[in-house]
Amino acid sequence: MKENEVKDYVKKSYGEIAKNTGSCGSSCGCGCGPSSTELSLQIGYSKNELDNIPGASNMGLGCGNPTALASLKGGETVLDLGSGGGIDAFLAAKKVGKTGSIIGVDMTEEMVQKAKTTAQRYDYKNVEFRLGEIEDLPVDDNSVDVIISNCVINLSPNKEKVFREAYRVLKPSGRILVSDIVTEGILPEDVKKSMSAWAGCVAGAQEKNQYLATIRNAGFEEVNIVSESNISIDISKELKGKITSVQVEAKKISEQKLITKLF
Ligand SMILES: C[S@@+](CC[C@H](N)C(=O)[O-])C[C@H]1O[C@@H](n2cnc3c(N)ncnc32)[C@H](O)[C@@H]1O
Repeated sequence: MKENEVKDYVKKSYGEIAKNTGSCGSSCGCGCGPSSTELSLQIGYSKNELDNIPGASNMGLGCGNPTALASLKGGETVLDLGSGGGIDAFLAAKKVGKTGSIIGVDMTEEMVQKAKTTAQRYDYKNVEFRLGEIEDLPVDDNSVDVIISNCVINLSPNKEKVFREAYRVLKPSGRILVSDIVTEGILPEDVKKSMSAWAGCVAGAQEKNQYLATIRNAGFEEVNIVSESNISIDISKELKGKITSVQVEAKKISEQKLITKLF
């Protein structure tokens, strides 16, 4: 499948989700199926966290809670890859305080517009949302302390480029904490070719060890799985036990090590 075709399909799908999600946060309207709040509680957000962010930012689209594991500190600059409605950006804003700042990047115009409107309505002064692709980040070199991402990198047809870009924009010793979907073993060919399975965070998921190798190959060190859990997906019986949500941390090389390496 061509990269552009995948991206266009993913963009269209998430554009529709952004347009059709009510202020209650449920993508199918309040009252049908599990709500975004229920889904988010299941994947690790606390009730207290959800009660203290704008409801519209939570569309129940994540697969983990990256800000809970990223050890964010006051004053840090945080970049959220594929920020969607902004749930993790708004949570991060509370943790880094007024002296810190958050940049959310998303390629879907409707998502960025929705997140910007929420930030404005709730007066988040240190959070900005930029339209852009995570394979070609609209962010300066060596400018970010921490990168978070929640259920996005699996959607990219070029994960090597995503992690190389993440490495470029991080300051030396900067870190990433990503929640994502990976597979245990190889997916059936028909699933890998299904556009709806791409948009559903399955078809683009890499095999777990390959995913970790992609991060290491971009230059990252100390690549570790912080936690993981198997998730059930209704697409096909063959996928039972094959889809896992992982929380992965890694670090960019320190300035000291870089100097030693160069000389
Ligand atoms: C599953 S949603 C997750 C949104 C958000 N992280 C959350 O947890 O609510 C995936 C988001 O990633 C964005 N996205 C997918 N591929 C992308 C890419 N290559 N570059 C930038 N954004 C992308 C989509 O537009 C969508 O908003």
